[in-house]
Amino acid sequence: MAMLADSRPRPRLSLGRDLAIDLGTANTRIYSRGAGVVLDAPSVVAMRGRDVVAVGQQAKQMLGRVPEEFEVVQPIQHSVIHQYDATERMLRYFVQSAHGRSLISRPRLVVNVPSHLTGVEQRAVRDAGYAAGARQVFLVQTAMAAAIGADVPIHESRGHFVLSIGAGCTEVAVIASGGIVSGTSLRTGGVDFDVAIVEYLVEHFDMRVGEVTAEQIKINLGSAVPVDGIPVMTVQGQDSRTGLPKQIELSSVHVRKALQRPLDELLSALRRVLDTTPPEVSGDLLRTGLVVTGGGALLRGLPERLEHDLGVPVRLAAQPQLSVVEGAGRCADNISSVRRLLLIEPAL
Ligand SMILES: Nc1ncnc2c1ncn2[C@@H]1O[C@H](COP(=O)(O)OP(=O)(O)OP(=O)(O)O)[C@@H](O)[C@H]1O
Ligand SMILES: [Mg+2]
Repeated sequence: MAMLADSRPRPRLSLGRDLAIDLGTANTRIYSRGAGVVLDAPSVVAMRGRDVVAVGQQAKQMLGRVPEEFEVVQPIQHSVIHQYDATERMLRYFVQSAHGRSLISRPRLVVNVPSHLTGVEQRAVRDAGYAAGARQVFLVQTAMAAAIGADVPIHESRGHFVLSIGAGCTEVAVIASGGIVSGTSLRTGGVDFDVAIVEYLVEHFDMRVGEVTAEQIKINLGSAVPVDGIPVMTVQGQDSRTGLPKQIELSSVHVRKALQRPLDELLSALRRVLDTTPPEVSGDLLRTGLVVTGGGALLRGLPERLEHDLGVPVRLAAQPQLSVVEGAGRCADNISSVRRLLLIEPAL
């Protein structure tokens, strides 16, 4: 893996607290050296013209519910900066709330990036980091950060299998000897589970719901395996034929059917990666197994389903939605010792 060398001048003294940032499609998380995870907020910005009126949780509450003169944006899509200006302003706000405003202590940043990012997209992440006040920006691969944060011994010669399911991006990697030996990066994630629910309701119930409602249905009723009892919930939305408000009772059985397609796609991706893993390493995975991270890993029954379908032991990381930022944070704790091994420079 390429090592880091930043072209910008480096100060001799290491001032201030270094930070790690997981700039996610749905949520941004910040880890501060010595303090742990200090910020966990939705990656959402509400604007009125050029003015930012809300960031984070407050902006998320405005999604789909504002008059025309407002624009509520999710500037990160598929873990890629989609709207640079809004990202820069959001990040500056988050870094300042996590770090304070003092200019003499500009932090060094470690930011995770998925492996599908192009050199230009990586450059945008770095630029946003510098614009947020960093004095140096280091990048680490998301799958590697997820593994470190989930306590996977990445330097062992034995192989370890890691999955990170975010909102807009899924990373799969087999790691051995401190590097990725096989893997893939998908531009799909938890959001696609929500979209599958939206489509299912139109098709089977003539009912339109927004993605916020679909996500709530997924969290309340979604599962990857049959569950005890048959939980139900009342869902409110709009009749897709008449346009009038409508209410239905939805059961977990329907939701499991709706999630079948995205789950099958996830399993195919995992199987493809196993298929391209060298046999020696592949054999290790029967013992070391798969560790599942990311907010999407919280889908009920997912570890059991993966274990059943892949035939390797599966472990859900503790606080899976924080694994990536914790792992990037451990890199930030000790930048000098990991930079040669883990941190990358954009291929420009
Ligand atoms: N209990 C749950 N069951 C199912 N899915 C869940 C649950 N809790 C959160 N999620 C999903 O996890 C996803 C968010 O995960 P996470 O915060 O790791 O994503 P992200 O880091 O912002 O995105 P990405 O890594 O793709 O850029 C959302 O799609 C959310 O719906
Ligand atoms: Mg993520």
